[in-house]
This record gives sequence, C-alpha cells and structure tokens, in this order.
Amino acid sequence: MIDQVLKKLEQTEPQAIDRLCEWLRIASISADPEFTYQCKDAARWAAERLEESGFTARVVPTGTEEQPGHPCVLAKTSNADSGTGPHVLFYGHYDVQPPDPLDLWESGPFDPVVKKAEATTPADHIVARGASDDKGQVAMFLEALRAWKDVSGEAAGGLRVTVLLEGEEESGSENLEKFLKEQEAEFKGCDFCLISDTGMISRTRPAITYGVRGLAYTQIRLHGPDKDVHSGFWGGRMPNPLNELSKVLAQMWDENRHITIDGFYDGVIEATDEERAAWKALNIDIPTMLGNIGLSPEADIGEAGFTSVEREWARPTAEINGMWGGYMGAGAKTVIPAYATAKVSFRLVADQDPDDIVKKFFRWLEGRTPPGCRWELEDMHGGHPSSVDPTSRWLATARRAMEQSTGMEVALIKTGGSIPVAGMLKDSLGLDTVFMGFGLDDDRVHSPNEKFELPCFRMGARSHAVLIDLLRGDGA
Ligand code: BES
Ligand code: MN
Ligand code: MN
Repeated sequence: MIDQVLKKLEQTEPQAIDRLCEWLRIASISADPEFTYQCKDAARWAAERLEESGFTARVVPTGTEEQPGHPCVLAKTSNADSGTGPHVLFYGHYDVQPPDPLDLWESGPFDPVVKKAEATTPADHIVARGASDDKGQVAMFLEALRAWKDVSGEAAGGLRVTVLLEGEEESGSENLEKFLKEQEAEFKGCDFCLISDTGMISRTRPAITYGVRGLAYTQIRLHGPDKDVHSGFWGGRMPNPLNELSKVLAQMWDENRHITIDGFYDGVIEATDEERAAWKALNIDIPTMLGNIGLSPEADIGEAGFTSVEREWARPTAEINGMWGGYMGAGAKTVIPAYATAKVSFRLVADQDPDDIVKKFFRWLEGRTPPGCRWELEDMHGGHPSSVDPTSRWLATARRAMEQSTGMEVALIKTGGSIPVAGMLKDSLGLDTVFMGFGLDDDRVHSPNEKFELPCFRMGARSHAVLIDLLRGDGA
C-alpha cells in the first residue's frame, strides 16, 4: 500500500502546495497581540485539514480567562487511546516569527510565492514567513496523513496518532506546560514524540536531530540618574549606565570565551569521545556556512578547546541579543542615559536548568552593581535542553523511513536551536522526542525572505508517509 500512498503524494503535490500557501497567508504571529485572531484562524485551518484526514480535532484554548494564550490544536485517530501498536505524538507549531524588517522582503511575507530555481537557490521554492519554520514542515505531515486516508480509507492508515500543534513556540511556549498538565490524559499513552522543525546537513544529506539546546531569556536594566542628563556637566562625575552595563556584561566571558558566571557550568554533561568523533566524521563545511552569512573563515571563533560543531551542539553560550538606552535618534545629542537595557539569553545543554541559570546570572549581576545604580531584572522565558538516546528504537525507525524514502544516507546530528516542548514532554511524561526535519541552513528562518524548497517538502512528505507505514507494521 505504501507505493500507492507515495504515488498519491506525487499526483496531488500541486494541490498540497496550494493548501500550504493558503495556510501561509494567515499571519499567525504569536508575539504580537494584534494577530490574535490570525493565530486562532491558523489553528482552525489545521484542525479542518486533520478532520478531512479522518481525525477528530479540537482547537483548545490555553492560558487563563484573564490572560488567554493562543490555542493548541489537538487531534486524534479514533483508535489512539484504545488500539494496539505504537502510538505516535506528532508535534508542530503553527505560529510564526514577526516578519520585520519588512522592507527587506522581496514579496509580502504573508503573500506566498512559488519561485523557480535561481543562482542562489538551486530548486523551486516557496517564499513566505513560516514556509520552513514551521508550517511547511507540518504540512508535510498533514499531506502524508491525507494520502494515507485517501488510499487506505483509514486515518493515518490505522496507526495510532495524536497531533499537537502549538501556537506559542516562537514566543516562548508560555502556556504550554500548563496545557500539557491539563491535557495529560491525551498524551499518557503515547510512545514517542515526532517533530519536524529542524534541518538537514545539506540538500543531499538528510539528518535526524537527536538533541536540542535549552534556553533562558532575560531582560536587564541598569538604572542611574532619574533622567537623561547633560554629558558635559555630568560626564566623569557619576555612573553612565550604558558605560557601566557594557563593562559588566563584558565580564561574562574570560579570555578563552568561557562564561564566568559562578556555577554556570555546574551540571553540564560533556559530549563523549565517540560523539565528538562521529560529529567530526560528518565533515561539516564550516567555512561555507560562515560564507552564507557573509563571514570569512577566520570568524570561526568561540569557546576555546571546542570545534564549531561542538560549540553549537554541546556547549552552553551567553548572548546579548540587543542593548539600548540614551539617545538613538538622528544626529548627535550629548547625553548620559537614565538607564541602559539589554536582552541577554543563554543556550543551555543537559543538565542545566533555565530557572537555576537565571538565578545565578542575576546573583552575579547583583554582585557587580555599579555604585549608586540599581538593577531591574526580568526572567522572560526558557526551555529545557532535550536529547534522545541515539540508539532509541523510534529514532532507528525514523531513520529507516528517511533512508527508504530519500535513498540517501541519513546522518545523526544535534542542533543549537531550542524547541521547548521536548523538555516538557520528557519531564512530565518521560516521552522521548525524535526530530525529523527537512529545513536547510539557508532557509532564512526568522529572517526576511524565508523559503522552503520543494524537494525538501517532497522528501518530508514521503518520509512521513513511509514512517507511518513502518510504525503501523510496528517497525521496531
Ligand atoms: N524551529 C526552531 C528551532 C530550530 C531551528 C531548530 C533551526 C533547529 C534548526 C524553533 O521554531 C525556534 O525558533 N525556537 C526558538 C525557541 C525559543 C523562541 C523558545 C529558538 O531556538 O530560538
Ligand atoms: Mn520552529
Ligand atoms: Mn522558529
């Protein structure tokens, strides 16, 4: 039957792309309250597609009455809770990042266009916000479900499936933990979680991701004088919050680019020698990757003693995402700012805990308060790191599905990015997550002109269809 399903996918690809474009037209920007309606609309759109493929689907509110969140889509096959055989939880997110800066888009971010291959993008591709992260990748799974239903007459070809689509992944998954707790019964019987929200090594090197980093995100403000003041009268006589904040933050790294926050590395689990050797053997082309973001090979710097890949996959980092204060308009204004603000985040690895890291960071700051100044410290959001044992049977099945459907060797990789749900599922239900993603490094996720290439979409839809087939035959 799988051959017919794959044939169906091939025959219906134009309609599949039209469907995806329809979804991409809904501006489901979770970070901006102006787009609350669009988020709900995008959730409803996905629920309808799942219903068409034989699922029972609900759009479930999250948060509280006073502080509602964006809804989750929860859908199930009729046998999900009663049947036998593996029960897979598919997770994806329908929300997208804000499209700014808008003037850099060549077409409207929510006006998807299918573009022909060109010099920089060697395959036909869809350009729109969310094309790769994550609507395009969720759509691969939705299309595999549709083809299975069309061919077999059964939802997911009889496989037990629960689907969870979140609407706040791009803004910190703030209501997800509570939602998972409230709906725990829906997920209790699942065997593993499958997510398509990561990438391949390259167009010809598909990969399974077995770990994501965690995240702790803060905003810190250093207050000085009670108003902006004349830098001629006051310069050199009192603390300039921007000077002082940049001096404090510069102390976060020593000369080896190790992070100096007390206790920061407590609990960090080092990559094993085997892992490091396996990563080295992947021969990931770092100079080309740097070239893709306009940097030369000598920009390959970071924590001493680790390769670029190790620094991304297995080491925690501290980043200043933005920093401001004082006068930022046109021309020159001689002023000492009343305060200086920075957004500082940390990527975390097992077994660091985001709450613990934020506590340590804030304590470290308090110990360095410039004379006469005061801090205003905000813990914004976070997520735990998460990995699955590379010998997991579910990972092996997913890898086999990808190998069968692409005819290519499938590498095992990790990623420096974060997907908070994975840690939550592990903590609350002991569920492992396998990341089967089809993005490319140059998909411009979170950037202007985000794109998803059609061959990636095709590989993803086929791989999900084959994975469903292997699992329904209990492909252990
Ligand atoms: N899909 C990404 C994470 C990702 C991107 C993994 C590329 C692997 C390759 C996800 O949507 C994302 O952007 N996550 C945020 C999490 C945050 C907002 C809590 C991240 O990593 O910054
Ligand atoms: Mn994503
Ligand atoms: Mn994202």
